[in-house]
Amino acid sequence: MHKARKDIAEVMPVVDIIIEVLDARIPFSSENPLVPELRGDTPCIKLLNKADLADPEITALWVAHMEKERGIKALPVSQKQPEQIRQLLQLCETLLPHRNLNKRAVRAMIMGIPNVGKSTIINILAGRTIARTGNEAGITKAQQKIKLDNNILLTDTPGFLWPKLSPPSCAYRLAVTAAIKDTVFDYADIAAFAANYLLKAYPSALQERYKVASLPESDIEALDAIGVQRGCIRKGGSVDLQKVSALFITELRAGLLGPISLETPSMIEQEEEAEKAAQAEKAKAKEEHDRLRRLKAKKRSR
Ligand code: G4P
Repeated sequence: MHKARKDIAEVMPVVDIIIEVLDARIPFSSENPLVPELRGDTPCIKLLNKADLADPEITALWVAHMEKERGIKALPVSQKQPEQIRQLLQLCETLLPHRNLNKRAVRAMIMGIPNVGKSTIINILAGRTIARTGNEAGITKAQQKIKLDNNILLTDTPGFLWPKLSPPSCAYRLAVTAAIKDTVFDYADIAAFAANYLLKAYPSALQERYKVASLPESDIEALDAIGVQRGCIRKGGSVDLQKVSALFITELRAGLLGPISLETPSMIEQEEEAEKAAQAEKAKAKEEHDRLRRLKAKKRSR
């Protein structure tokens, strides 16, 4: 993490444009807070990748939100439509109108958390296999430079995760989309989180995929129903929670429940407000605790 920050800080002064690859299902949680911190005035394009897996209506909300609230150009893309990804080359030129491209190459830096599809995008842009791809978090390790069309020199930075997983639900959403290694999380935990969210946001996707007649009332009930439907049953006849959780998360990640977004701009706003209120409450409790301690110490010293 420290090395990635150092690497980025070092190249930032010689970068003309930053391309940050985000997961279209979680454009907030997959964003790296180092980007606003380190980029200064450098133009930035956010690629909302895996748009094929996200809810198109919610993706449109995110694009509008990023452009309106933050003045950042966001482009939904997917490996299924490589021509969308190649639009990026043109967009770099549009965002740097003052640049005389005949003089020197545009220096672009691409970044993104592990498994967001950065290597896939680089390969599509380069028209050949350059970056190793795979679903293991953190597979791109060393920084490399790649010559692209439109006189663009692309610097690839190693995949890394943002340091502050806050609000806490961000960590769950990163786990649901496989940005955090599976070994770090318990499948049952992330499956419960995902089931709980789908019950509220996409109940019909759950019902249709798993042929559940009436909508379950809780995440556990939902996982139980899926377990029964899919035969994830232990010897004694009870549902095998680990097995059904793994099955459910695998299917959700693969898009088998349909296009699903895991966060919306207004949801994030609410979560951030709740987090701020919780932090303020915590600070107040600590203040009170310290005050009582000081009072006790004073009494003792009398
Ligand atoms: P990274 O460099 O950011 O770590 O990610 P990478 O390109 O290795 O992609 C991670 C996984 O995400 C790969 O799947 C890749 O195919 C998939 N992926 C990338 N872009 C898209 C997209 O637009 N839509 C969808 N649905 N998937 C995408 P994998 O199963 O791990 O590898 P593979 O068997 O596909 O090569």
